[in-house]
Amino acid sequence: MVTGQVLADRYGRVATDLRVSLTDRCNLRCSYCMPAEGLEWLPDDTVLTDDEIVRLIDIGVRLLGIREVRFTGGEPLVRRGLVDIVARTKALSPSPEVSLTTNALGLSRTAAALAEAGLDRVNVSLDSVRAETFHTITRRDRLDDVVAGIAAAHAAGLTPVKVNAVLLRGVNDDQAPELLRWALTHGYHLRFIEQMPLDAQHDWSRAEMVTADEIFAALATEFTLTPAAEPRGSAPAELFQVDGGPGTVGVIASVTRPFCGDCDRVRLTADGQVRNCLFAREESDLRTPLRAGASDTELAQRWVVAMRGKRAGHGIDDPTFLQPDRPMSAIGG
Ligand code: 5AD
Ligand code: SF4
Repeated sequence: MVTGQVLADRYGRVATDLRVSLTDRCNLRCSYCMPAEGLEWLPDDTVLTDDEIVRLIDIGVRLLGIREVRFTGGEPLVRRGLVDIVARTKALSPSPEVSLTTNALGLSRTAAALAEAGLDRVNVSLDSVRAETFHTITRRDRLDDVVAGIAAAHAAGLTPVKVNAVLLRGVNDDQAPELLRWALTHGYHLRFIEQMPLDAQHDWSRAEMVTADEIFAALATEFTLTPAAEPRGSAPAELFQVDGGPGTVGVIASVTRPFCGDCDRVRLTADGQVRNCLFAREESDLRTPLRAGASDTELAQRWVVAMRGKRAGHGIDDPTFLQPDRPMSAIGG
């Protein structure tokens, strides 16, 4: 049965892109995301099972107009059932586009199986190609594994492989051209993301953030960027051709040039809460009714209602802005 409903909010936006966090755990500890230690994990019994996740995604694609599903974390590769969840998601009707946002640790072992399961693409987080800087940011010495994982994804056809980089003042803000050269050499699509206030420690500061303008200035020292012709649509990245193309670079200026007006995203946390925005202060619980035996139609209805509260924008630049209680690792990117 098709209800023909969509996930619309009061501002005319319709969510068609679902981000599903599969776990809040991670094998890295990026400083802009997690403290070095001492972050509490979600209790195991609150984390949705594989069956529960696939059931909610099925409701999303079959009843609510979701067309794209992106798995995130924490680190989605640490979830044991990932390959199976991808295969079952791809087998839904209508079959959504399926992608993964990952740190690529261990991806060299699973890229082929994920491609076989129907995964379309990966976005990899990588902020430096220098071992020392990588260690400073992630607090782990795993650069080689990550680089191998990215290469494996590319070889498995999970393309275009997008690489997301966050620049941190005094840490890697001198490495933007170096990262771009590396990405262009390998055929990866690099995107710089402005650091957002989503760290568990609440250390983010607007003044410390490396802005899109600073990123452009840094890249301009070595490259000529021209705006790419294709329309941006709901994609958060502004795209530029590098030195006349074909290489490109993207900049996601979430803070200084917010794109909330074009947002088509909705999020489901690993413990079954709908979040209508990364920065939402409220969530809508689907896990409790799901476990209490709610029907697909009832769950779809709750999801529709959850979207009506979506705010016009994140308001990071507003003096009254309050950072969400959950960190990025428990929301999903
Ligand atoms: N600001 C910007 N990007 C972040 N990411 C994680 N935390 C933050 C933050 N505070 C990035 C990761 C990954 C994607 C999901 O979001 O590097 O690429
Ligand atoms: Fe892990 Fe991603 Fe957070 Fe880094 S940003 S600690 S890779 S969840």
